[in-house]
Amino acid sequence: KVLILDFGSQYTQLIARRVRELNIYSEIHPFNKIPVDLDSYKAVILSGSPFSVRSDNALHSDLSNIRGQKPLLAVCYGAQYLAHFSGGEVAESNTREYGRANLSFIQEKDLFFENIHTGSQVWMSHSDTIKQLPTNGVLLASTHDVENAAYKIEGEATYAIQFHPEVYHSADGRQLLQNFLVKIARVKQDWTPQSFIEETVENLKNKIGDDKVVLGLSGGVDSSVAAMLLNKAIGKNLYCIFVNNGLLRKNEFEDVLHQYQGMGLNVKGVDASARFLDALDGESDPETKRKIIGRVFIEVFDDEAHRIEDVKWLAQGTIYPDVIESVSATGGPSATIKSHHNVGGLPDFMKLKVVEPLKSLFKDEVRRVGASMNMDPLLLGRHPFPGPGLAIRILGDLTREKVRILQEVDAIFINNLKSWNLYDKVWQAGAILLPVNSVGVMGDERTYEKCVALRAVESTDGMTADWVNLPYEFLQKTSNEIINKVKGVNRVVYDISSKPPATIEWE
Ligand code: XMP
Repeated sequence: KVLILDFGSQYTQLIARRVRELNIYSEIHPFNKIPVDLDSYKAVILSGSPFSVRSDNALHSDLSNIRGQKPLLAVCYGAQYLAHFSGGEVAESNTREYGRANLSFIQEKDLFFENIHTGSQVWMSHSDTIKQLPTNGVLLASTHDVENAAYKIEGEATYAIQFHPEVYHSADGRQLLQNFLVKIARVKQDWTPQSFIEETVENLKNKIGDDKVVLGLSGGVDSSVAAMLLNKAIGKNLYCIFVNNGLLRKNEFEDVLHQYQGMGLNVKGVDASARFLDALDGESDPETKRKIIGRVFIEVFDDEAHRIEDVKWLAQGTIYPDVIESVSATGGPSATIKSHHNVGGLPDFMKLKVVEPLKSLFKDEVRRVGASMNMDPLLLGRHPFPGPGLAIRILGDLTREKVRILQEVDAIFINNLKSWNLYDKVWQAGAILLPVNSVGVMGDERTYEKCVALRAVESTDGMTADWVNLPYEFLQKTSNEIINKVKGVNRVVYDISSKPPATIEWE
């Protein structure tokens, strides 16, 4: 495996993903928390950073057990760091160097640049520049504006590049990472979905033995793939619980439960709609709604889990972005916190031990692992759906009637996205019931009814998002169908706000 030391670059996760796309497992650790089992890492990559090596708060990493002993690739800040503190010189550049550039000189004889040729496009993003290479530095590449765009250190397997090989716009970035990792560091490319499954199932067997495990299924990709892995490892000792909180999409509880049973999972469907809806009745504050749903979920789950005699483990579908310790803007490592995403996530809950089989995977890798276990592509391709469900898409006070209206509207919107082949082009979509009535006219009657908003966004991780440019004709047909078929709605609007500054959900 490969160690990536994070100095806070916005691209650090991309480096990890690019390495994994080469079928090589990689892990991100903060620059100042070098793992103790260094032996198990075959190569090390230093990320970029928002900091300057010339400033007082430059981030320092103890490379004494790495440099000269393991193949090392330093990217951007990393490259400047090696230069600045090892006999070279870094200065502020006269022109800020951002965006596209082309390599005008390449030392093509070096293994590092094998199969990469002069003219190759690279992506720059830095305001400091390396004026002088470090001691024993050998120039490997330049662009028109940046003389020291790549160098190596004589006598070491240490390479440094000013540009970002991990971003899509560096045309030969993948080749470069492959040259470094495979040709120079000789790391094996044997990390595949299949090998992940075999290894994980083996580990789960050893860890869990004959114990019983309880897992909350949500209908989403992560909990479903986690369940399938555990099912392979321990079969009937996995007890899945799928709770209907009454805030799911139309028919979702029955459909998904049926699908889970078809997958051979030992799953119990618990219809607790009434309990949730009673607790929420008339509630309008967004955070209170979330808290009520979280609390009732735990009560229901707890009740059910207690019925399983002698259960020892709680399994969760936590994925890698939830656990990476990221380096914050102040330079200190800080944990990424997404509290609202962990409705069922309680480490000391019921004194159960926690098992998280997907903790090392990115979302797209979870999907590939699922595909490799022959899981239904429709399940794997499902849009994300918030834990509190439709409750946070009903603005204002929540009633059963409003849930029913929104379920109908949402079903029309989502089904139309599917029949127009737009569903897979959208990252997440849904309808929002607004707390306003507006005047309309149907036949000769004046109406005063509800307004709904449709929202469809493109995103990769939900952190940033943009609204999708859906065809007018699609919007026209969908709006028509909603107003004609859903009693109580006389107006449909489309949300054209990006995140930031708006969020994906309305509350
Ligand atoms: P926002 O609205 O923050 O949403 O832009 C980003 C992503 O998070 C989901 N989301 C939630 N998921 N519980 C969840 O499990 C919540 O309370 C919650 N709020 C937002 C949202 O659907 C989107 O995918």
